[in-house]
Amino acid sequence: MLDFPVLAPSLLSADFANLAQDIKKIEDSGASFVHIDVMDGIFVPQISFGQPVVSSIRKCTKLPFDVHLMIEHPENQIDTFIASGADYITFHYEASVHHHRIIQKIKESGIKAGISIVPSTSVETIKEILPYVDLVLVMTVNPGYGGQKLIPECLKKINQLKKIRQENDFGYIISVDGGVNNKTLSSVIESGAEVIVSGSSFFSGDLDWNGKICINGSDK
Ligand code: DX5
Ligand code: ZN
Repeated sequence: MLDFPVLAPSLLSADFANLAQDIKKIEDSGASFVHIDVMDGIFVPQISFGQPVVSSIRKCTKLPFDVHLMIEHPENQIDTFIASGADYITFHYEASVHHHRIIQKIKESGIKAGISIVPSTSVETIKEILPYVDLVLVMTVNPGYGGQKLIPECLKKINQLKKIRQENDFGYIISVDGGVNNKTLSSVIESGAEVIVSGSSFFSGDLDWNGKICINGSDK
């Protein structure tokens, strides 16, 4: 059982020429997950990387891979991400229609299924699928780029999700992604986020996690 909040650094801001080295930095920071942002250039403007990269870096660490799919038609990609070594596969509510089918497919493979919502999607919108998911990823920026400014209003969704979880005895964990830096971290923790994703500030050394600056794998 994880002792929340836990850190999930995003590889999107890593040095792509030195992924193994940057995954070591993630391990040394005490993080609990490696957050892997997959972008297709359609659901979001940028293209990041796909399954070949994920399976290549699988051998670099035993940390769980928290794969965040920012792609259209995620249903077409689930099998290969499972084969690449994902531990969690999170897809966007806004990128698909047949949510239950996708969740079922992920879970049948013995891995965890997550649903993500962009800032303009309400918790109410996803209530029908909350009984089935293992993780809810609350985006606090519009997905697509690292280094954006956190939209504070999104943080109220965490409390809404906790209330629904408690009332119904659901099992999902709640993750927050986008714009977490040393200025916003305390508000994100106070809002009750359980998994905290951080990309640009983690890798630039602007994140003080449990009294430790997360850069170069050492205290600073
Ligand atoms: C944004 C991605 C995030 C991103 C976070 O579309 O889903 O995971 O890497 O980056 P920062 O922490 O820089 O906002
Ligand atoms: Zn992400």
